[in-house]
Formats: sequence, structure tokens, C-alpha cells
Amino acid sequence: MNENSKLAIIGAGSVGSSLAYAALIRGSAREIVLYDMDRAKAEAEVLDLAHGTPFTGAGRITGGGDIEAVAGARVVVITAGAKQQPGQTRLDLAGTNVGILASLLPRLVELAPQAVFILVTNPCDVLTVAAQGIVDLPPGRILSSGTLLDSARLRWLIAERAEVSAASVHAAIIGEHGDSEFPLWSQAKIGSTPLLEWTNSAGEQVFDAAERARLHEEVVGSAYKVIAGKGATNYAIGLSGARIVEAILRDEKAVLTVSTVLHNYHGVDGVALSVPAIVGKHGVERILYVPMDEPESVHFRASADALHASIATLGI
Ligand code: LAC
Repeated sequence: MNENSKLAIIGAGSVGSSLAYAALIRGSAREIVLYDMDRAKAEAEVLDLAHGTPFTGAGRITGGGDIEAVAGARVVVITAGAKQQPGQTRLDLAGTNVGILASLLPRLVELAPQAVFILVTNPCDVLTVAAQGIVDLPPGRILSSGTLLDSARLRWLIAERAEVSAASVHAAIIGEHGDSEFPLWSQAKIGSTPLLEWTNSAGEQVFDAAERARLHEEVVGSAYKVIAGKGATNYAIGLSGARIVEAILRDEKAVLTVSTVLHNYHGVDGVALSVPAIVGKHGVERILYVPMDEPESVHFRASADALHASIATLGI
């Protein structure tokens, strides 16, 4: 981890606080600042988290209601905004949360001009496009957590079904972090076995078309199911965010499915969608071109169309 490993988290709601908690436990950053305009809330979350740091290693956490505490951060994660209510889509939040982003981002860039900015607030893909119009930063330094979380959900489902470790499941959800996301089945592997060739101990194919459709539906419905039961998702998105922070602060050059604005990618231009990318100290350092079969190309363009429509209504 390089000398400046300061992480600033904007928003001390359930997602921001969970991301801070995950980062402390994983040792993602040496210094974590948690900011919220609700000073009392932020100070309470910081105190509660700080009380646990004797058990979490070197990281320390500070913060509260003063945005100046963000100064000098290497990574800034934005989680502030309205959250999905039961039955709402992520795109339904676009108008409100683009407004909140516009009110925060210029000041954050002033305070942390060298930082990589990670948008977690939804709809994170739309906000990534909006951010590029609000501040002038190198494209790779504005990204969103995108479908990294959805890819983790898919990997977990595949691991459970195949009775293998999720660490040995290489599978990605790409496109919108939302209803039009889809699995890149043609590239999925368990170990070095193509997923489409995976058989159980009786030699029967496990992931046939019906099972793949079920898994796809399960991933797309995951957040809705969690929100219906507990009001919001927070743990898995917090861990996903911490994982991206680590790849940046450690300059890992890790391949992660995160969202940045694409240009001339499988016929898509000017929208932010998640595809595998190399993530290091400069943020997204290289977007990887992945082959897609015809159904995947159709899904990808449909995902782009959904986002273009949302962006058009906002006039960004
Ligand atoms: C989810 C939120 C982070 O998918 O969009 O849980």
C-alpha cells in the first residue's frame, strides 16, 4: 500500500458505514474518513467503528460533518443519496441523486484533486456519466462499483449450485447495474472448466439453459429481495466497494467488472456500463474487450439503450 492510503467515504448511511466497516476489517486503507451532512449520524458511526479498531489492525477512522476532512484523500467513495424503496428501480432515483452528486462533487474534487472517485450511489452508471459532465477529470478516475456486486452474487449462486469455492468461480455480470444486467455465460469458468461444460459427479450438465435463466433472474432480483426484507442492501455493496478501494490503493492492476463511460465498445458509445477492466492506482487503467456471442451482444445493446433513455430524460 503506498504512502497515501487515505480513503474518504461520503455518506454515513447503511452503505457508507458498511463500506467503512468492511475497509477496516479488510485493512483496505490506512486512514478512513467518513463524512455526512448529518453531523450527529456521522460522528456516531465514526465512534462506533473506532471503538472496534483495537480488533481490526492498522486502519484508523475519523470524520463527522466537516467535508474538509476529505482533504488529500487518494480514493473518494460517494454513497450519499436517496435509496431504492420497495418496488422502485435504481433508474427511478436518477433525478434526485444526480442533483445530490452535482452539489457535492466540485467541492470534493477541490479537496482531493488527485483522488480516484468511486460512485456507489444509484443509479451508479447514470451518475458516472453525470460526473464526467460535472467535473473535468481523466476518465479512468471516475468509475462506479457497477456490476462487481452482481458478479459476486452470480459467483456465489454458481458456487452453491456446483458445490465449489466461490473463489474458483470466474463469472461476470456486465452491462447496467440494474434490471438490464446479464451474465457473460460464454466466458464463465469453474476453475479452468467452461461453465457450459460443467457436469455433476453423475456426469450430468448442471448449468443448462433453464438453470442459467434461473440464475440470471435470481441475480437481477437480489437487491429487490433484500430491500423487501430489510429495507436496503449494505453488507455486500460495502465489501464490493472495499475491494475496489484496495485495487486502487495497492495498485493491484486487478481485473474487476466496474463501470466507466465506454467509447466504441461493441457498438456502444457515451454511456457507462460495467465490463471487465484493469483497476490500479489511476482507477480504471484499461477497459478489456471481451468477446460476446450474439445473445450477449443483444443484451449489451439493450443495457446501453436503457441507460441512454435515462440519461436523455435528465438532459445530461
Ligand atoms: C444493490 C444496490 C447496491 O444491488 O444497487 O444491492
